[in-house]
Amino acid sequence: MTEEVDPAAMALLAERALAEVRDGAVVGLGSGRAASAFVRALGERVRAGFRARGVPTSHDTATLAREVGVPLVGLEAGTLDLTVDGADEVDPVCDLVKGFGGALLYERIVAAASRRQIILVEANKLVPALGHHGRLPVEIVPFAQPLCQDRLAALGLRPALRTVDGRAFVTDAGHVLLDCGTGPIADKAALDASVRAVPGVLDHGLFLGTASLVLVAEGGRVRELKPRAKVAR
Ligand code: A5P
Repeated sequence: MTEEVDPAAMALLAERALAEVRDGAVVGLGSGRAASAFVRALGERVRAGFRARGVPTSHDTATLAREVGVPLVGLEAGTLDLTVDGADEVDPVCDLVKGFGGALLYERIVAAASRRQIILVEANKLVPALGHHGRLPVEIVPFAQPLCQDRLAALGLRPALRTVDGRAFVTDAGHVLLDCGTGPIADKAALDASVRAVPGVLDHGLFLGTASLVLVAEGGRVRELKPRAKVAR
């Protein structure tokens, strides 16, 4: 279900995102391929003397950051200057679906601790409406799985436990994911609230109003998208 990425596009996005990072910054490090390209580029810059520290959103990202030389800190570092992350869908007002990679809860927390969230995607992630790819990840407490499945189905979603090699996929925080089948979502805010209200749900993949800037790689160039309310006039 995960489409291939173009390494050249990833490198271009990472380079453009680096221009947003000031010397001395504390940077939220997203998860997934686009975010990893950024972490590698940041590491190269740090090894050349640039000062930056990172707050990782997954064990995989933490491992990569250590490998490439980005010093890591936790949320005790205070407000982060920015987070650089990927996304699975981006709609025309820069709302997002995230979590196909399974790191949505920590990605939410780190984004919330950041002044800005910068999203890196290729153009195939741009959709007319969220839910376009038919999948909304929901992170739940394992004990609550039967209840969550019933309640999410009652909301019109089609929840299925995410598995890897026949076993439940377990998130870095020790939870499980219900990948909910959905069509294009007509009322994002209403679905956000209804899913969040189900007992046992910890978070879900709708990121509404979090992105400050979306960088889109397309035809060897990077296009910038900003949510309307945040466009400087
Ligand atoms: C991880 O939970 C996700 O939110 C990723 O950020 C998202 O899946 C994008 O990943 P890629 O850059 O690998 O497509």
